[in-house]
Amino acid sequence: MDLFEWQAKELFAKYDVPTTKQVLATTPAEARAAAEQLGGPVMVKAQVKAGGRGKAGGVKYAATPDDAEKHAHAILGMEIKGLTVHAVLVSVAADIGEEYYFSFLLDRANRSYLSMCSAEGGMEIEQLAVERPEALARIPIDPVAGVDEAKAQEIVDKGRLPEAIRDQAINVIVKLWDVFTGEEATLVEVNPLVQTPDGTVLALDGKVTLDDNADFRHKDVHDSYRDNSATDPIEVRAKEKGLNYVKLEGSVGIIGNGAGLVMSTLDVVAYAGAALGTNGDAPKPANFLDIGGGASAEVMANGLEIVLSDPAVKSVFVNVFGGITACDAVANGIVSALALLETKGEALTRPLVVRLDGNNAEEGRRILTEAAHPLVEQVDTMDGAARLAAELAKAGAK
Ligand SMILES: Nc1ncnc2c1ncn2[C@@H]1O[C@H](COP(=O)(O)OP(=O)(O)OP(=O)(O)O)[C@@H](O)[C@H]1O
Ligand SMILES: [Mg+2]
Repeated sequence: MDLFEWQAKELFAKYDVPTTKQVLATTPAEARAAAEQLGGPVMVKAQVKAGGRGKAGGVKYAATPDDAEKHAHAILGMEIKGLTVHAVLVSVAADIGEEYYFSFLLDRANRSYLSMCSAEGGMEIEQLAVERPEALARIPIDPVAGVDEAKAQEIVDKGRLPEAIRDQAINVIVKLWDVFTGEEATLVEVNPLVQTPDGTVLALDGKVTLDDNADFRHKDVHDSYRDNSATDPIEVRAKEKGLNYVKLEGSVGIIGNGAGLVMSTLDVVAYAGAALGTNGDAPKPANFLDIGGGASAEVMANGLEIVLSDPAVKSVFVNVFGGITACDAVANGIVSALALLETKGEALTRPLVVRLDGNNAEEGRRILTEAAHPLVEQVDTMDGAARLAAELAKAGAK
């Protein structure tokens, strides 16, 4: 989960990382009140989960509460990289001597962590990384050894931070490592990390990504920082039910067991659909949904309920390869799921194409044939089933 700047800086403060006082505001009047409360000049900063806010006009200096209100009025509702600004962060304006860049991140390619540091921070860091990569130091971090003062010393040396602030920078970097490990983040970035004219080091911006796989260990932080306003509502409900669901643009609902099988099902359906339409009316997958290995009736019912709650879905393709959970169990799951939905007043109204293969496939097919649900059709091959599901979706869209 990516955090907003205000959330990142709130976590920084929790770990004693020096930063500026801040108040979140969702209206111009609140921004004025925040500026009055903070006293002195402030920065009014758009809160969206995207980079380049300053360049887009979303970060403004306000000398007075009046200015803060005016800037908030202009920034709230603004679109930055397709994201609407719903809140601004009003933060004490620091006097900036120099701007530096600093980050810790997960280095997937090397299965390790990495720190990046540069004496040339600020808004042009992406350009710097491309044009003069040597000015952006990359220091590998041993995940077991972590970051102590000696490692932090190496980072500031390689980043060529000025001698006079090195001790402070080392102190800040060790604390940022505490944020990174303590909150189980995959990214902690500070751009800019600044030196004020009196030689104080401050983090003026923060980007933090928390590891969703560790959310159960940080329930309070994840629950309070989760922002569903930009997430598809069906995805939100699927997550609540513990389902691995991603909304897509098409009309063929997809349910499968195992992420790899579901991904190849998406491909096969997209391919079958492309053969049926040329001018943008080709049926496409409506979602990704992996119900996992143990597809109980309840999980199958939840999955069907989620997929069918998308009004764009015109047909559903259930593609199951029986493994540890054999096809007969899955078939029974489908039959009871359909009954369960019916008792809830959500009886199936759109066609369901089922392909069962693998462990006990024959018995599974027999169970479905016997149940003889009028909207359920079985096809033995994945290609054939994908073709039928695409055809039914096309017919249903008329
Ligand atoms: N509290 C502050 N006091 C003084 N100047 C600030 C403060 N916050 C930001 N600035 C100035 O505004 C610039 C842009 O701010 P910031 O880094 O937060 O946004 P950004 O870099 O444009 O956005 P993003 O990091 O999302 O791309 C900073 O480089 C800094 O010069
Ligand atoms: Mg920045």
